[in-house]
Order: sequence, then structure tokens, then C-alpha cells
Amino acid sequence: MEPSILINEARAFVKKQLESDSSGHDWWHIERVTRTALILAKEEGADLFVCELAALLHDIADEKLNPSLEAGLNKVRDWLSSQGVQEEAAEHVMQIISTMSYKGGNNPRVTTKEARVVQDADRLDAIGAMGIARTFAYSGWKGDLIYDPEQPSRREMTKEEYRHGKSTAVNHFYEKLLKLKDLMNTESGKRMAESRHSYMERFLEQFYEEWDGRDLIQR
Ligand code: ADP
Ligand code: NI
Repeated sequence: MEPSILINEARAFVKKQLESDSSGHDWWHIERVTRTALILAKEEGADLFVCELAALLHDIADEKLNPSLEAGLNKVRDWLSSQGVQEEAAEHVMQIISTMSYKGGNNPRVTTKEARVVQDADRLDAIGAMGIARTFAYSGWKGDLIYDPEQPSRREMTKEEYRHGKSTAVNHFYEKLLKLKDLMNTESGKRMAESRHSYMERFLEQFYEEWDGRDLIQR
């Protein structure tokens, strides 16, 4: 099949799967990540077709949306073979989406240029104003508070505390979002992450000022 037709088929497939998701994996997240992946792929000289296809499919297998990660990956594999995607490209896409998730930042670094591009694109959508919006949306979906001054915050929680549902949206910044800048793979991605990262820092400063009402005191 023509690459451009295949990309359109992938868009339709993903849109249908993620249309009604409110956990931060909605179609528009995919749209933004795919656009960013193409920008990065051009700057980094990566394979555009593999990057675009992997970006489109990257969240389909997520554990939150499937009975298991394996079941999710099988869904993607089946779709790729039903479309007759060339073996090598299909394998590469499978390899990218099965290795790129965050997993507490402990996953081994991804190995191919295309995987580095798609992972950076996904991470860029997890920081900055976009990342802030998604985090609060996700926390609401999960039933967490926006912030709790009596809970440990401004530091990483222990696994035990996390399991007991004591995380908050603000805490997620320390658990993950503020770490992403230093985990970027590509030079272009690192550069793009800088301004989104400082925007989050400014947001947190303002958040704490307003929380305490310090911004209301005449100086
Ligand atoms: P992705 O791989 O697309 O970044 P994730 O499943 O890791 O997706 O998360 C979806 C969105 O929700 C991201 O913006 C992420 O930062 C945010 N998120 C993930 N876990 C939490 C959490 N425990 N609390 C708040 N936000 C979260
Ligand atoms: Ni994603």
C-alpha cells in the first residue's frame, strides 16, 4: 500500500480507538505528538514514514487502555499485518512503541534514531502548558487532589506512598515532568524542551504563591 494511504488508514484506526479517552491519551495528544515527531524527524534525518506511523500508534497498546500491555501490542501487530505493512517497517514500529514508555524513567534508553525521535515527541507533549493541562486532566480522571500541602510534595514519593493513592497532580511534576528535560534523546528535542521546562517552573512558583496568598500582599 502507498505510504500516504497507509498513514491515512492509521489515522482513522487510531482516531476511532482513542476518540473518547479522557486519561490524557485522546486523539489530539496523538495529533500533536505526530506533528512534533515529523518536525524532529526532519531535523534529525530520521525515517519519516516509520516516525509518523509509530507516533500515530504509540499509545494504542497502553496498559491503561487494554487488558494488558501484551494484548495492546498484539492489537497493533495485528493491525500492521492486516494492512500489509512491510515486515521491516512493521518490526521497527513495534520495537519503538514497546520500548518507549516512561516506566519511572528506568526503561533502558531507546536504540534507533526513529525511536529517539518518537519518544522525544511524546515527552515534549508531557511538559510545558500542554503537560500541565494533561496532568490536571489525568489527576481528575484518577481521582487525585490538585495539591495537598500536608502530603509529601516537592520531592519524590516512595513506591509505598504512591501505591496508597497519595499522589497529587502537583506531585506528578516532581515524579516525572521536571525530569523529562534531562532525559531528552535528540539535540533538537533538548532545545525544544528548555522553554517548556521553564514554563512549568514558572507555573509552580505562581501556584505556590497563590496557594499561600503571597501574590495578594502589597509589596
Ligand atoms: P504518555 O506516554 O502519552 O505521556 P502517560 O500514560 O504516561 O502517557 O500519561 C498521560 C498523561 O497524564 C501525561 O501527560 C502524564 O504526564 C500524565 N500523568 C501520568 N501519570 C500521572 C499521575 N499519576 N498524575 C498526574 N498525571 C499523570
Ligand atoms: Ni503518548
